[in-house]
Amino acid sequence: MIRLVDVHKSFGDLVVLDGVSLDFEMGATTAIIGPSGTGKSVLFKHLVGLLRPDSGKVECFGVDMATAPESDLFSVRRRFGMLFQDGALFDSMSVGDNIAFPLVHNRPDMNERARAERVAEVLEQVELPGIEDRRVSELSGGQRKRVGFARAIAAQPEVVLFDEPNSGLDPMTSDAIDELIVRMKATLGITFLVISHDIVGTLRVADHIGMLYGGKLIAYGTTAEVVRSEHPMVRRFLKRNIHLPDDDGPPELPRL
Ligand SMILES: Nc1ncnc2c1ncn2[C@@H]1O[C@H](COP(=O)(O)OP(=O)(O)O)[C@@H](O)[C@H]1O
Ligand SMILES: [Mg+2]
Repeated sequence: MIRLVDVHKSFGDLVVLDGVSLDFEMGATTAIIGPSGTGKSVLFKHLVGLLRPDSGKVECFGVDMATAPESDLFSVRRRFGMLFQDGALFDSMSVGDNIAFPLVHNRPDMNERARAERVAEVLEQVELPGIEDRRVSELSGGQRKRVGFARAIAAQPEVVLFDEPNSGLDPMTSDAIDELIVRMKATLGITFLVISHDIVGTLRVADHIGMLYGGKLIAYGTTAEVVRSEHPMVRRFLKRNIHLPDDDGPPELPRL
């Protein structure tokens, strides 16, 4: 239902995506990994039509995101929850208003009371019950991430895009976010598409991993397959972050 077919994207002379094809499996968590600046965020922006490919196809829920009119893009975006790296919360608004924001825009069927109930419910799910009236500016980094998470799932999206869930977080908070992803997938059946340069967190949450490097997907498979990849760049990237054995023994996967 969500797929890229031979997607090319350049900015001027800078080739960012150089023929990327990928079928995302629904109901699973797929992580896109790769060093900074390899086009992970650019790839995600194509999925919701914030960027259009120079050539190739981006298909989401049957809509060709490259050619669809803006009104179709809007209906596709409603099915996504998005948590972008730079997509900060509105500092001047309360936590509750931040979370209600996608509901106001995407769920015209909900009245104010239903929205307030939904906000309370998702705040409980991210283990921050009752903080609706707090200002975003009063929150810690980890709390902000959780509130962003609550906002991303508020409108009950089928797919959640999570750009760098662990960036800027201390290890314990980072673990808590990973646990939330695993739990939300299991309990709500959400399809998570996560991008990360933090391989440790990725290995814990992902069912499938794709590695982007030099504009191409140089590895794609189940988490277990990718950690066994023979590709030198994949091994180099993984080795910097986890212990890979030199013989053919099974790699140690980090656990929650
Ligand atoms: N809108 C844009 N205009 C020009 N260059 C961009 C734009 N968006 C991203 N880039 C460039 O594309 C490359 C990949 O960026 P990005 O996808 O953000 O990397 P990352 O893998 O770290 O998420 C970077 O060199 C970045 O500067
Ligand atoms: Mg990025």
